Amino acid sequence: METMKKSVLYSREAIRQRVLELGEEVSKAYENRELVVIGVLKGAFMFTADLVRALSIPCRIDFVRLASYRAGTETSGRIELTKDIEIPIAGKDVLVVEDIVDTGLTMKFLEENLKARNPRSLKVCAFIDKRLRRKVPFEADFVGFTMDDGFVVGYGLDFDEQGRFLPDVCVLSQEK
Ligand code: XMP
Ligand code: MG
Repeated sequence: METMKKSVLYSREAIRQRVLELGEEVSKAYENRELVVIGVLKGAFMFTADLVRALSIPCRIDFVRLASYRAGTETSGRIELTKDIEIPIAGKDVLVVEDIVDTGLTMKFLEENLKARNPRSLKVCAFIDKRLRRKVPFEADFVGFTMDDGFVVGYGLDFDEQGRFLPDVCVLSQEK
């Protein structure tokens, strides 16, 4: 990745602003409810941390880790839950916090897995929605940013475990 060009797509300031707006939206949607936020590791760790701090309502927080076997930047569609939640969600209002919805396969898988545990409601908040790349129909309920194509790193997102620490979201391209 060091040899690739990185251009800022969403600056830390733009992200901060958008996350505050999302926090308000989510808080309104869950007033007087028992919200359980489930962050999807590792990509959504920063987004989850910022989003819950932007909420004006209480919530409980848990995490899942999913492995989707990828060849380069393309998903194979084979997905596995490698770390499960520890908080029971039956009867609770659950908000899954994901970094990117791309083909939609990962969120479809997680949605089915969590629905089987009978939450009161289940919604998804995606930091980025790559709408044009869907292989299965999937609509996130809350979306931070929408982008067409391109591979991004930073703000928790990685290319082969590199770039997660970056405070801005950057698009990677081949030229130096
Ligand atoms: P699907 O295709 O199942 O995949 O919707 C969603 C997962 O793919 C990862 N993904 C990315 N990760 N930069 C990343 O660091 C990207 O541009 C990108 N696009 C997809 C992401 O982990 C998400 O959970
Ligand atoms: Mg990733």
